Amino acid sequence: MRSHYCGDITSLDIGKDIEVSGWVHKRRDHGGVIFLDIRDLHGIVQVVFNPDHQNIFDLADSCRSEFVINIKGLVRKRIEGAINPKMATGEIEIEAQDLIIFSKAVTPKFPLDDYQEVNEDIRLKNRFLDLRRPEVSDRLLKRSKITSKIRSVLEGHSFHEVETPILTRATPEGARDYLVPSRAHPGEFFALPQSPQLFKQLLMVGGLDKYYQIARCFRDEDLRADRQPEFTQVDIEASFVTTEDIMALGEEMITTLLLEFTNYESRAVPRIKYKDAIEKYGCDKPDLRIPLELQDISELVKNEEFKVFSGPANDPSSRVVALRVPKAEGLTRKNIDSYTDFVGKLGAKGLAYIKIVALGEENGLQSPILKFLQQDTVDAITASLSVENGDIIFFGAGNANVVNLSMSSLIKKLGEELELLTCEWAPCWIVDFPMFERTKDNQLTSIHHPFTLPAVSPKELQANPDEALACAYDFVLNGYELGGGSLRVFDPIMQSEIFSILGIASQEAEEKFGFLLSALSSGCPPHGGIAFGLDRIVMLLSGTTNIRDVIAFPKTQSASCLLTDAPGEVSLEQLEELYIQSTVEQE
Ligand code: AMO
Ligand code: AMP
Repeated sequence: MRSHYCGDITSLDIGKDIEVSGWVHKRRDHGGVIFLDIRDLHGIVQVVFNPDHQNIFDLADSCRSEFVINIKGLVRKRIEGAINPKMATGEIEIEAQDLIIFSKAVTPKFPLDDYQEVNEDIRLKNRFLDLRRPEVSDRLLKRSKITSKIRSVLEGHSFHEVETPILTRATPEGARDYLVPSRAHPGEFFALPQSPQLFKQLLMVGGLDKYYQIARCFRDEDLRADRQPEFTQVDIEASFVTTEDIMALGEEMITTLLLEFTNYESRAVPRIKYKDAIEKYGCDKPDLRIPLELQDISELVKNEEFKVFSGPANDPSSRVVALRVPKAEGLTRKNIDSYTDFVGKLGAKGLAYIKIVALGEENGLQSPILKFLQQDTVDAITASLSVENGDIIFFGAGNANVVNLSMSSLIKKLGEELELLTCEWAPCWIVDFPMFERTKDNQLTSIHHPFTLPAVSPKELQANPDEALACAYDFVLNGYELGGGSLRVFDPIMQSEIFSILGIASQEAEEKFGFLLSALSSGCPPHGGIAFGLDRIVMLLSGTTNIRDVIAFPKTQSASCLLTDAPGEVSLEQLEELYIQSTVEQE
């Protein structure tokens, strides 16, 4: 039904008889001549209808936006003055000889013009229309190219793609499970995989050696701009490997993509210890394009009268940090108030600051907190931060988690708003993660997942679980966690020890993970791997910050599909068949 894509016709085709199929993008009536712009995946071409061909002229006249049509015609050069240099096919047009209308269309729910800003909910509800916009389809085409490149890197290293089950048992990755009731087993449920973690490990026990999968994962967690309940991982596992092997592979994969799809210049990817990342950036996914770092000043302020600082400085679960922001003389009181509100929403009790107006001069510093601090302390702070005139120092004091969250978020906000980015792409590895962290109720929980290999023996782990490090690594790009992985426990005694530290009793461990423990006791190779978030990779490489932009049919922030109106109610009969009774009141 076509000899050419609309967008591919050039002046080299002048004089050729061609056939195109596509959607009517625009219809214009110019004094007895009708112009239809026809659009397909590759672009738009202009078709001209003269009244000499009366049948097709009338048919063209009846065409409306988004009708699907087929045109046969002759490519000709546009007359002088009608050439449109903004259009890829702007030098030519098609003189129509035949027209078929395949399908009529109601007036579209929103105009598809490139630059039209349309409310996202309307776009998602009519995603089939939205997909016709080149901004949307281009990202999906890019996603396809990225996936293909990833496959070629992995297959170049002899990785094999293996599919793992979707109906399975829960795999703990820290989120809630999506459950699927079993009709054949009353009262029992499958869980959709949060990741293929256990299956990829079992593939290693099974001798598959090098596995990968472009794997769909499901997590019922609070959604953000970079999270979806249903997302895709580039999941990787290999046997007889070290952390270096996996990190080298992951780095090669991402570097290949950056080189192929951006103007990235290859360089060594820095490695930052988890502890240092928290200390310097307040988070384990720093955006290294922003040249701002936190400096712990607890030691400098612990003997001050000013309780806002000295209280946290003397409390082991708290910290006091200073953030030097250069060239911030333009920041007004209103700006500072808005930053104070911003950190306040993240739990901070305030945002003290000192403006450096004229260093060393009388009244050269401006700040509401100077009157509470000794001059020596202020001098020590400004000296340790090497401040210059025009800088501003922000301070965060309080519970370490709150300070880290609020100040790391402030760094990202300042980086964007003050346009401080020093480069376009700043990847890094975060390494030396602790095995565990404490929850609010002081329980130990895995930072990655319970199958991560500790860097210590089972005995040392038991003696000091809070201090134990893990053989784990995360890949971070521009402040986004793109991937995470580790070497895995391959000794059943170590695995049982970890379950016990996590408060999983041996009976429960046997019930939930008996198959894993049994596999680990059946001759298990040392193994490890990593998983990258494909949606996040495509998001960054497409220059958007909204993960929904790179998914064909995404869910909303409240985990629903506006297009199909899912999730939806089901009939009582269906529920009964599944032995399920709803506790939600029927309306
Ligand atoms: P992790 O939980 O770190 O590790 O997930 C790996 C990567 O998947 C992406 N990701 C997400 N992307 C979109 N929406 C989400 N809700 C979402 N959650 C995670 C992130 C993340 O870095 N089994 C381990 C990997 C391993 O140890 O090999 C795992 O799933 O980019
Ligand atoms: P206050 O004594 O509460 O009025 O605070 C004096 C100054 O310290 C104000 O500029 C506050 O914004 C700031 N401040 C108060 N609490 C904190 C905190 N936890 N961290 C950083 N600055 C704070």
